Amino acid sequence: MNPEDVKKVGVIGCGIMGSGIVEVCAKAGAEVTYVEIDDTSVDRGRAAIEKSLGRAVDKGKLSDEDRTGLLAGIHGTTDIHEVEGSDLVIEAVTENLDVKLNIFRTLDSITRDDVVLATNTSSLPVIQLAAATKRQDKVVGMHFFNPPPVMKLLELVRTLATSDETMEFAHAYGERIGKTTVVAKDRAGFIVNYLLSAYLNAAVRMYEEGFASAEDIDTAIKLGLGHPMGPLELLDLIGFDTMLSVSDVLYDEFRTQEFAAPPLARRMVQAGRLGRKSGRGFYDYSK
Ligand code: 3HC
Repeated sequence: MNPEDVKKVGVIGCGIMGSGIVEVCAKAGAEVTYVEIDDTSVDRGRAAIEKSLGRAVDKGKLSDEDRTGLLAGIHGTTDIHEVEGSDLVIEAVTENLDVKLNIFRTLDSITRDDVVLATNTSSLPVIQLAAATKRQDKVVGMHFFNPPPVMKLLELVRTLATSDETMEFAHAYGERIGKTTVVAKDRAGFIVNYLLSAYLNAAVRMYEEGFASAEDIDTAIKLGLGHPMGPLELLDLIGFDTMLSVSDVLYDEFRTQEFAAPPLARRMVQAGRLGRKSGRGFYDYSK
């Protein structure tokens, strides 16, 4: 399939990443159907998309008319069968292998045989999801970065079974939605999260061992290395739960110390201090 033939996109999951992916695909001209687990999550997803588009309108980057047109082409549902007519499906649910496996089995049975099934997993082996389908050659990782409407990178993950045709399609569709693609092997963490996990774990260890305050660690990295965010601010943006599951998968795969999540990261998740999405992480977002 050519990327210009992608008229309908299905997005499974409409959280931080899913809602951004919906927005990006809609802006590239597709009708998008997203699937969430319950009505509250469907509404929350739509509110996130509306907020992001509203910000674009306020900044003069999108007209009111275009926003209305985009929102009219975006449909949320709790019924995964509604993505059956899609020309491409991107899965962006929580990092839980069993949940993703069920979704891939269902997608394989309801979508046309020629449809590429992509996963936005941040670290899980893409081949395991492919193996749950009868179209292993058409399963690929399309890993977006937070926030998806802003971050220019799209990591493509090629499994042992992904075909050249699927890789060409994923690359061309990535270009169509305004991203620059890089290709990674199907190894835990791909390119970015392999490096990022070790870095963020080290930052939490530094803080835990009292090297410096959270604010000073973040300021040092922003001003000393020119990063847009310090590591602890970035952890709050990504979410401690997401980063912990990435580190755990990397540790399982490589068994090296840099991927072993520091105890504080686990305690933060257990305390529900997930970062911006829960109102509190290293920093307080409740106001
Ligand atoms: N949706 C849409 N647009 C957004 C947005 C969002 N959620 N957040 C910010 N923007 C836009 C703003 O509208 C603004 O656009 P403009 O420059 O055209 O006016 C621009 O982005 C900058 O935003 P702000 O001025 O509000 O704030 P900042 O300048 O502080 O930028 C940031 C915010 C883009 C988040 C920046 O701090 C940044 O790049 N941080 C690093 C993010 C990062 O590293 N992400 C990768 C995380 S790793 C990951 O996702 C992998 C996963 O698997 C774990």
